[in-house]
Amino acid sequence: MLRLDDHPSGRHFLQIPGPTNVPDRILRALDHPTIDHRGPEFARLTLAILDGLKKIFQTDGPVIIYPASGTGAWEAALANTLSAGDRVLMFETGHFATLWRKMAGKFGLEVDFVAGDWRSGVDPAAVEAKLAADKAHAIKAVMVVHNETSTGVTSRIPAIRDVIDRTRHPALFMVDTISSLASLDYRHQEWRVDVTVAGSQKGLMLPPGLSFNAVSEKALAASKSARLPRSYWGWDEIIASNRDGYFPYTPSTNLLYGLHESIAMLLEEGLPAVFARHRRHGEATRRAVRAWNLELLCRNAEECSDSLTAIMLPDGHDADRFRRIVLERFDMSLGTGLGKLAGKVFRIGHLGFFNDLTLCGTLAGVEMGLPLAGVPHRAGGVQAAMEYLAKA
Ligand SMILES: Cc1ncc(COP(=O)(O)O)c(C=O)c1O
Repeated sequence: MLRLDDHPSGRHFLQIPGPTNVPDRILRALDHPTIDHRGPEFARLTLAILDGLKKIFQTDGPVIIYPASGTGAWEAALANTLSAGDRVLMFETGHFATLWRKMAGKFGLEVDFVAGDWRSGVDPAAVEAKLAADKAHAIKAVMVVHNETSTGVTSRIPAIRDVIDRTRHPALFMVDTISSLASLDYRHQEWRVDVTVAGSQKGLMLPPGLSFNAVSEKALAASKSARLPRSYWGWDEIIASNRDGYFPYTPSTNLLYGLHESIAMLLEEGLPAVFARHRRHGEATRRAVRAWNLELLCRNAEECSDSLTAIMLPDGHDADRFRRIVLERFDMSLGTGLGKLAGKVFRIGHLGFFNDLTLCGTLAGVEMGLPLAGVPHRAGGVQAAMEYLAKA
């Protein structure tokens, strides 16, 4: 029989960019008896969660909860708003944008996929050029991954919104915030995003298993005429049941307990403080990387993610071997390189339940692992981060 917790003494450092460390407060909330999902107590729980989620997504509109991983919420975004043969505009920012594109293809959507180098975010000028050229308004949706978890690069959503407005193009705007919600500043309503896709296992500090669509009036209107087949993912029946605090299927009751606690924790800290904390840890990590004389995968300083950092290893050095050494010696999991970045980069997750000392411990594990793996570098990354954290 597999032992579920065979880590040596002390806490395992789970520093992948999601799933993130689950706080004790949330673990305790999960550990309550499952209740009747058709009873009055459950309705109160759902209504409180739906109200709290609006604050997290910064919207007055509906947020739909799915008992699914983020991929399910990607599918829901497409299935509710589009019809086979529709043209959509997507951008190759990395592995996750590529997977979402693949899914769109399977649904029979015609994807205009703007090529990218996996080191930069979506260029608003490229969005503007594509939309301006589409005089017939054939493009039905612009779809962007806000924070590419595979690369540590963030796209500038307000700037993309501005160019959609400037071209007066009616396309829906869909944004994947799976590794940015509740970590990086994100405003569904103010930025007039039509469908925001999110997941439980990153900034929300929950285990994997829940995902979300926050939807605009325009997206709801589009869902009335969209013809892609949908049943389980359909927004209409879920929104109708949610009005009284229920779901049209058996919900993940215990994950919802955790979500209730997660919302409470985030609102107690305050979203501006949550975002500032992530900005600070992002900057401290980048200072450590520069001090190590290693290269960030992210090319443009204004696009570097504050929820994770992807670091390139010099040619001839296998990033997965380095990760293995860090895991074996220091019981810390770092993120692997995904897709074409396999073996070339490792990723540090610095999002979710995280503080200055968690970051220092994480960076210390990296700095001790580099010489053990024979990776050429300078010492002093942890020192650079500590100096910044002590002052900032
Ligand atoms: C940006 C992004 N989009 C989509 C996904 C897919 O989500 P899931 O693996 O929960 O299905 C992930 C997973 O890490 C992600 O980081």
